[in-house]
Amino acid sequence: MIALSLAEIAEIVGGQAHDIPDPGARITGPVVIDSREVRTGSLFAAFAGERVDGHDYAERAVAAGATAVLAVRPLGVPAIVVDDVQAALGALARTVVERLGTDVVALTGSAGKTSTKDLIAQVLDRHAPTVWTPGSLNNEIGLPLTALRATEETRHLVLEMGARGIGHIRYLTGLTPPRIGLVLNVGSAHIGEFGGREQIAEAKGEMVESLPAAEDGGVAVLNADDPLVRAMASRTKARVTLFGEADEAAVRAENVHLTDAGRPSFTLHTPTGCSDVTLRLYGEHHVSNALAAAAVAHELGMPVEEIATALSEAGSLSRWRMEVTERPDGVTIVNDAYNANPESMRAALRALAAMGRAGQAQGARTWAVLGKMAELGDASLAEHDAVGRLAVRLNVSKLVAVGDREASWLQLGAYNEGSWGEESVHVSDAQAAVDLLRRELRPGDVVLVKASRSVGLEQVALALLDTEGEVSGR
Ligand SMILES: Nc1ncnc2c1ncn2[C@@H]1O[C@H](COP(=O)(O)OP(=O)(O)OP(=O)(O)O)[C@@H](O)[C@H]1O
Ligand SMILES: [Mg+2]
Repeated sequence: MIALSLAEIAEIVGGQAHDIPDPGARITGPVVIDSREVRTGSLFAAFAGERVDGHDYAERAVAAGATAVLAVRPLGVPAIVVDDVQAALGALARTVVERLGTDVVALTGSAGKTSTKDLIAQVLDRHAPTVWTPGSLNNEIGLPLTALRATEETRHLVLEMGARGIGHIRYLTGLTPPRIGLVLNVGSAHIGEFGGREQIAEAKGEMVESLPAAEDGGVAVLNADDPLVRAMASRTKARVTLFGEADEAAVRAENVHLTDAGRPSFTLHTPTGCSDVTLRLYGEHHVSNALAAAAVAHELGMPVEEIATALSEAGSLSRWRMEVTERPDGVTIVNDAYNANPESMRAALRALAAMGRAGQAQGARTWAVLGKMAELGDASLAEHDAVGRLAVRLNVSKLVAVGDREASWLQLGAYNEGSWGEESVHVSDAQAAVDLLRRELRPGDVVLVKASRSVGLEQVALALLDTEGEVSGR
């Protein structure tokens, strides 16, 4: 952040200084909400969560080096007291980003935000100093904290924005107004909470509504292959640029195929020319993510060769997203247990099928160890049924459905598609899945593990990688 004095911060957030001996003292360290992350010169923002109240940690934060605390009441340590800590943090982020003049790239979508954000960050960072959202901290607290990491050196700020309802993206873009706004896709993530795909599109489209007009540099980067995203072009004053497979897309992929390792390979076309890319990430769904990243990089002036090289070298920065590990015995574990929705389930199953192809002739098998996709509302039964069926159509050797009701729908879908006998099984929990797999796995087999976050299926992947261990309690 820019080194602001406590007096300046109090003014920006409209707060009262309490127990501050020197209002000229500056915040020179990171702004944090966890007292364990305090560094010398930090500002510690005290949030009252469900289990812990940050105000109880104020003293500890100051002892650890924080210059002051942002809080809702005086605490006997240097504090700027405000009515609403979240609003204060937002106001501070907004002012800092404005003063720094950092170019803000923001992205949203139903699936692939973090994967794409990590790609954009790795590509842009080769070009100029870039700050980006760590992990998936895409909400009203994570976003300002990320923005406040920007310094005078920062040229690009890449921010993931998440929405669970109408108005959320508008709020976030209000904090850190983007010049370049990217919308990846409108899927069915959180459809139960939103009420339907149109509502999801309505909410995600707030991204492009927030952008500056074309003459002021605003650029909306939209997925040409997703009709609901493409339709957002009518909701913005910014210049629209498209990525995807459609002919009209300015940034396109041609000759898309999966290598035998399951890695997507394609020729990247941008208005400055074309260049070959082979991603280090697994699964065809990353082609769309890579094109989105390329479109952003192109807008920021990077030449196609540099973009292609950066994409081909970019790794996964966030865990449990198609994390591929080969065990010493030749079994490959694909841990994609970070989250799941119908789109990402399909993409992951296709990647699994591709990864299994090479070993098939030698009798190696593919295993899909799947759990429920949460928050699908009325569509839940049909979506689980469809995923079970797809596993069979893609010729996945074995489906292991883990959990209660939704898992039984997955297994029934597979059964009705023709997967009888032991090709698809339903087990009650992670431990049962691990026990089964430990008995059955053979060298060459490839195992995909995937479900919604709440299922915690990464425990299966971790237990399979640690051949001795049990599934640990969560
Ligand atoms: N373009 C895509 N289309 C469909 N699924 C995708 C796409 N990109 C990634 N996924 C899958 O979606 C899941 C979540 O990926 P990622 O964390 O990148 O998304 P996210 O939008 O950031 O999710 P969250 O809402 O949890 O922040 C992963 O399992 C990943 O494999
Ligand atoms: Mg995310």
